[in-house]
Amino acid sequence: MMALLDSGRGYGRGSISLHWIGALAVLALMVSGYALLLLPRGPLFRDIVNVHLMIGWISVIVGFLRVGWRLMNPWPSLTSGRAWENRLARLVHVALLALLLATLLSGYLAAATSPRLASIYGIFLAPTLGLDRSWHGPSEAWHAVFSHALVAVLALHVTGALKRSLFDRDGTLRRMMRPQA
Ligand code: HEM
Ligand code: HEM
Repeated sequence: MMALLDSGRGYGRGSISLHWIGALAVLALMVSGYALLLLPRGPLFRDIVNVHLMIGWISVIVGFLRVGWRLMNPWPSLTSGRAWENRLARLVHVALLALLLATLLSGYLAAATSPRLASIYGIFLAPTLGLDRSWHGPSEAWHAVFSHALVAVLALHVTGALKRSLFDRDGTLRRMMRPQA
């Protein structure tokens, strides 16, 4: 049977699914988020905000599931790289999870404390957690800072994963594709 949980040696189906669903969502949020920075305010801008928010709400749930999963299910050991490389890779993984949570939370707060953005096509109302509108500006500013930091660390992560798979050929990418018993 294919493993759901991670083992000491590798990732199980749970972590692999969460990683790639998360990666797809973060990619879509990056593209739609940066489009918002470039577009003038107008109907297209509003549509893209709605797309950003719909993927965003799903990502908030997936992101918290993922961090919970990681806390219950410790990281498998890394592949055969040099010690400093493995330490850097692990540091990058911790930074990615922390920045992911910070970006999701600040995005959530920016949307929930804005009367314009709290509902998506009138369907979904975000709980404001009792916060008033004065939180909107700072949350949006922090959201921009965290999302840029996330993108920078992500570039390091993807470069590292490709370097190991293409140059060292140590099966790093395969580890995140095929569950290990
Ligand atoms: C990893 C996930 C995410 C990334 C990379 C991301 C990225 C971005 C970027 C680059 C912007 C433009 C920054 C700016 O306006 O200064 C933005 C704006 C925004 N994002 Fe996100 N975002 C993410 C998740 C979320 C989530 C989960 C929510 C809400 C549930 C959200 C809500 C918003 C809102 C409300 C804005 C401002 C839109 C406006 O200007 O009216 N984001 N995001
Ligand atoms: C095209 C994009 C991506 C590629 C090619 C990629 C590749 C990989 C690979 C190969 C591993 C396994 C490393 C090992 O343990 O040997 C990994 C782990 C990891 N990746 Fe990514 N990744 C991508 C996107 C992302 C994104 C968007 C995030 C989060 C924002 C992320 C966060 C993590 C974390 C936290 C781990 C450690 C294992 C875990 O807890 O899931 N990755 N990635």
